[in-house]
Amino acid sequence: MSSSTPAVVSKFDVQWSREQFPALRQTVNGQPAIFFDAPGGTQVPQRVIDAISNYLATSNANTHGAFLTSERTDQIYSAAHAAMADFFNCDPDEVVFGANMTTLTFALSRAIGRELKSGDELLVTVLDHDANVSPWVCLEQSGAKVRTADIRPADCTLDMFDLQAKVRRNTRLVAVGYAANAVGTINDVGEVVRLAHGVGAMAFIDAVHYAPHGLIDVRSLDCDFLACSSYKFFGPHLGIMYGKREHLERLRPYKLRACTEQLPDRWESGTQNHEGMAGVIAAIDYLADLGRRHAPEAPSRRAALAAAYAAMVHYERELAEKLIAGLLEIPGLKFYGITDPAKFDQRTPTVAIRMEGYTPRELATRLGERGIFTWDGNYYAIDLAERLGVQQSGGMLRIGLAHYNTAAEVERLLEELKALANR
Ligand SMILES: Cc1ncc(COP(=O)(O)O)c(C=O)c1O
Repeated sequence: MSSSTPAVVSKFDVQWSREQFPALRQTVNGQPAIFFDAPGGTQVPQRVIDAISNYLATSNANTHGAFLTSERTDQIYSAAHAAMADFFNCDPDEVVFGANMTTLTFALSRAIGRELKSGDELLVTVLDHDANVSPWVCLEQSGAKVRTADIRPADCTLDMFDLQAKVRRNTRLVAVGYAANAVGTINDVGEVVRLAHGVGAMAFIDAVHYAPHGLIDVRSLDCDFLACSSYKFFGPHLGIMYGKREHLERLRPYKLRACTEQLPDRWESGTQNHEGMAGVIAAIDYLADLGRRHAPEAPSRRAALAAAYAAMVHYERELAEKLIAGLLEIPGLKFYGITDPAKFDQRTPTVAIRMEGYTPRELATRLGERGIFTWDGNYYAIDLAERLGVQQSGGMLRIGLAHYNTAAEVERLLEELKALANR
C-alpha cells in the first residue's frame, strides 16, 4: 500500500455495499439469488445505471461539436480518462478506452507486430485467459516465436523458474496475467516486469481478473501496458488499457487518417462508448465512496480507492478462508489452486473445483436452480484447463466472490454442495 493510503478505520460495511446493487435483490425459485459469477462479470451499483441513462437522456452526441450535448460528451470523455488515471495511477492521456480487453489487446499486438523481426520472441503463460495468449500467438505470422511459461499444477501457481528461463536475450514482450480468472492465483507481476526489463523486453499485464480485488499501481509496477475491463469491476461492458507514454507515442497502431496523432486519440479508433464511459466514472466514484466510508480523511480519489481496496481485500480474504475451509471438508471434492491460508495474499477469492459424480455443468445447473450463480467450463483459460487435464471433461466449476457477497451466502453454497455430495 502506498504512503498516501490512509488507515482503514472501520469494519467492512457489506450491507451498505449490497444496498447499492439493485441486481442483488433478485430471487430464483423463491430463494435469494447469490452472485458467485463475479469473474465472468460483476453487478453494477444503481449510480452506474443512472449515469448511463442520464448520459443518453441529456448528453447523447458525438465529440468535438459546437453545441451543448457534444460539449457534455467531451466533458464525460475527459472525466472518464481522469477516473481511470486515478484507478491506474497514471496520466489521463495514457488511458485508452476500447470495446473490451480482447479488442484492445489485439489492436496492441497488431501494432507491436509491425516492429517485430524474425527470431524475436514473446512469452505467454499457461495460467492466462486466451485473450492474453492468442493476440500474441497471432504474431508468429510475423516470424516471431511464442514461448509459454508453465505452472506448478499442485497449487496452480506460475513456475517462476520456468518463466525466468524463458525470458531470453531476444524476448520482446512478456504477457502475464495479474491474477488468474480460472483459479484465482495472483502472480508476482512486479518480478515479471523486472525480468522482462532485464532483457529489454516490454511487459503486458492482463489485470482483468485482478481489478475488482486489488489496487493497481502502474507506476510502481513499471509495466509497459496493463489492460482491464470495467464490467469486471462494477462498471459497464468496456475495456481500458494503460500504456506507457513512450510506447503509445512510438508504436504505430492501425488508424484512420481522420484520427489525430494525439494521445490517446491515435489508439481509440472510431466513436467510443460514451454512455459506457459515464458508467465507468460512476463505478470509480462508487469505489472511492466505499473507500471514504473507511477512511473519511482520504485526501484524493486515488487515496480513497486505495482505502476501498484495503477494506475489500481484508473482507474478501475472510470470505475466501471460510469458503475454502468448507470446500476442503466436502468428500469427493477436488480443489484446484492455493489452499494454504498462509498464501492467501497470493490468491483472489475465486476458486475452481470438481466433484465426484457430477460434471461441472451438472453442478452449475443444480446450483443455478437453487439461485446460486457459478460458472462451469474453461472460462477461456484454455491452456490451463488442458494442463490440468479437465478440458475434455467439462472443465471446472468456478465460484467467484466479490466484496458484495456475504458469509451467509458462502454458508448456503457449502450446505448445497454438501447435500449434492451426499446424494
Ligand atoms: C483474466 C481475463 N482476461 C481477459 C478477459 C477478456 O476480457 P474482455 O471480455 O474484456 O475481452 C477476461 C474475461 O473473462 C478475463 O477474465
